[in-house]
Amino acid sequence: MEQAAGERPLTVLGIETSCDDTAAAVVRFSADGCVILSNIVWTDHDDHQPYGGVVPEIAARSHVERLDHTVEKALDHAGIMPKDLNAIAATAGPGLVGGVMVGLTTAKAIAMRHDLALIPVNHLEGHALSPRLTETAPFPYLLLLVSGGHTQLVRVDDLGRYVRLGVTIDDAAGEAFDKSAKLLGLGQPGGPHIEAAAKSGNPDRFDFPLPLARHKGCNFSFSGLKTAMREAATALASPTAQDVADLAASFQHAAARHLQAQTEKAMMMLDFPEGDRRLAIAGGVAGNAEIKKMLRELCATNSWALIAPPPKLCTDNGAMIALAGAERLAAGLTPPMQEALAFAPRARWPLAPPTEGRAIGGGRKGPKA
Ligand code: KG4
Ligand code: ZN
Repeated sequence: MEQAAGERPLTVLGIETSCDDTAAAVVRFSADGCVILSNIVWTDHDDHQPYGGVVPEIAARSHVERLDHTVEKALDHAGIMPKDLNAIAATAGPGLVGGVMVGLTTAKAIAMRHDLALIPVNHLEGHALSPRLTETAPFPYLLLLVSGGHTQLVRVDDLGRYVRLGVTIDDAAGEAFDKSAKLLGLGQPGGPHIEAAAKSGNPDRFDFPLPLARHKGCNFSFSGLKTAMREAATALASPTAQDVADLAASFQHAAARHLQAQTEKAMMMLDFPEGDRRLAIAGGVAGNAEIKKMLRELCATNSWALIAPPPKLCTDNGAMIALAGAERLAAGLTPPMQEALAFAPRARWPLAPPTEGRAIGGGRKGPKA
């Protein structure tokens, strides 16, 4: 069943159900790297649209309805039978606990039925390793994780060795995009809608503040930006389509500048030797073209390499969970089977202890690490 690193390739099924995406994927991992054999993501934002955000009960119910089929499809697309797998990895937290429970329980059942190793995975570790799915990203690297539930800068030293350098002190970046989109009457999740509206907007029309500009550390804050956005929007009696586009473009530009400025501070803090200057980005917001452009400029100015996975692998997916499981299996960092089977879903599960700042709660995904 279990294999050591360097032996024949490991084939792992990954299951992700921590928010509103029902996802399953199969990856093959070897000393040469990772091949994604299948990557199925079932996203149905329409279920949550009337409520203006993810409703935990609706998400959990739809995972129950869709997960079996999603797993079957992932195995089918990969041309893999369960007996060909070396292990099953499933998100065990942090996230909406009802959804995590559906994914983890399903993984436990498949593992027991087919006598496979089971690996409970931290969703944040999945995001942290996701650049390694398709890119050359040797350890160490600086990670900017920007999603709907999390915004943090992490030094990724090795598998399982993470140091958090900065974290949001209020909203996550994706949450700020989602709330701003709601304010502008755009759809959910808001990020892609803001990005689309911003294409025909003027980013210089509204002068939004640069948060934490005078603070030394590299924490983030998006609540001031959100307030500035609300004030600008309500000052317009009946906003035209052009007003909405200008507001979206100005907000997006301000958020990108903030992410760029705090990432630059982390780069300076780290002082990596020349050969190790790699910035990897992950999480749904990392798919934003304007944000990527600003980070690419930052990297070019400071002679860092930018590792930017395709947007489909930035948002939640099963492939990153399968990879995290495969890497842990190869390194011998998996719990004994009895422990894995007893593993309880976790709403909170920090990836790394904070070096500064504070952990926060609230937001789209509920309390978070
Ligand atoms: O990583 P993800 O799929 O799920 C979480 O773990 O949260 O990220 C979802 C978040 C949402 O807040 C969504 O609005 C945001 O990522 N997002 C974007 C873009 N695509 C998704 N934000 C800005 N620009 C985008 N293109
Ligand atoms: Zn995520």
